[in-house]
Amino acid sequence: MKKGEKALLWFVVGLVVLSVGQNLFSKKPKEFQDAERGIPYYSTATPQLAREASDIIRQNDCRQCHSFWSVRNVMQSVPSPSLDGMGDLRSEQWLYAYLSAANPQTLLPTRLKPEYRMPSFAMLPENERRTLAKYLASLHAKDWYLEETRKNEYEKLTGKDDYKK
Ligand code: HEC
Repeated sequence: MKKGEKALLWFVVGLVVLSVGQNLFSKKPKEFQDAERGIPYYSTATPQLAREASDIIRQNDCRQCHSFWSVRNVMQSVPSPSLDGMGDLRSEQWLYAYLSAANPQTLLPTRLKPEYRMPSFAMLPENERRTLAKYLASLHAKDWYLEETRKNEYEKLTGKDDYKK
């Protein structure tokens, strides 16, 4: 082999090693990581509970204001909290009390403008309020998602990037 050829060969070998190494060790872009991890929310409800709750949610038009499973209704009239992961935020007892209150604002002072209110669902039959509370309490967010949300919040609030679990 001539000297020039040998140098070229090493050059090619070097390129191959570099590109393999890069693929092995480089982190994939965040969007890909998230896509591989799937939807950040899940429910522990039985299929029957999920079905019953969906009917009640449809009949009472909760989606007019709230999003479920990251799906936002384009016609959404009121900027309301997403109900995904609700079970990590509130207990079933609290949710039942909230849905049963004649004036929900007494339990959760509004964080929004006065014209945006959670209507009272006290008029629903008790079993429907119980089903809704049970279903909402079954909605959870995955650990990695909560962890990332807390981290982003920490970084936003403090401007530091030394977040510890
Ligand atoms: C007209 C709009 C509207 C409809 C319809 C509606 N909500 Fe709400 N809901 C709101 C608003 C606004 C809030 C935020 C309340 C606040 O901050 O004062 C809220 C808050 C909540 C909360 C508490 C969220 C938290 O952060 O703890 C739950 C649970 C909830 N709604 C469930 C439901 C369910 C279940 C239905 C259907 C049976 C429903 N909502 C229908 C507007 C609505």
